[in-house]
Amino acid sequence: MKRILTYGTFDLLHYGHIRLLKRAKELGDYLIVAVSTDEFNSIKQKKSYHNYETRKKMLEAIRYVDLVIPEDSWDQKINDVETYHVDTVVMGSDWTGNENFEKLKDYCDVVYLERTEGISTSQIKRELGLQKPINGVDQIPEPKNK
Ligand code: CTP
Repeated sequence: MKRILTYGTFDLLHYGHIRLLKRAKELGDYLIVAVSTDEFNSIKQKKSYHNYETRKKMLEAIRYVDLVIPEDSWDQKINDVETYHVDTVVMGSDWTGNENFEKLKDYCDVVYLERTEGISTSQIKRELGLQKPINGVDQIPEPKNK
């Protein structure tokens, strides 16, 4: 049984998320998704449209996803890998080289999958007018290389 773990907010679920989850599952047999809680998002100064419980339920309805767990801190990852006997942590390519994931290489494999071009939650919010202007200025999402 090869266990895969990935992290994210997965707000306003879109086909970039689905492609990421499908390819992540194909790397093993059991896919765990750690979803940012609303409290953790506020630490990151992000606010999702759907709350944690809704995002969790939507992910649980996806055939590639076997288990959804909360992500509520920056430093839980090593503990997650050990607790769930994870073989591989998978993230989209916007996270390539990020030290939070690079340091997991002492504990498991870390794989970055190519991000799907042309879609993101921020873009959907912006195009639907859900991303509120701050001080009258439209909020354009950061380039995806966080
Ligand atoms: N992802 C992807 N392709 C996209 C969007 C996201 O592969 N077009 C991946 C991310 O790299 C991450 C996972 O999906 O591994 C969850 O990403 P998340 O940050 O929740 O979604 P985004 O659409 O990137 O949200 P935002 O615009 O708020 O950053």
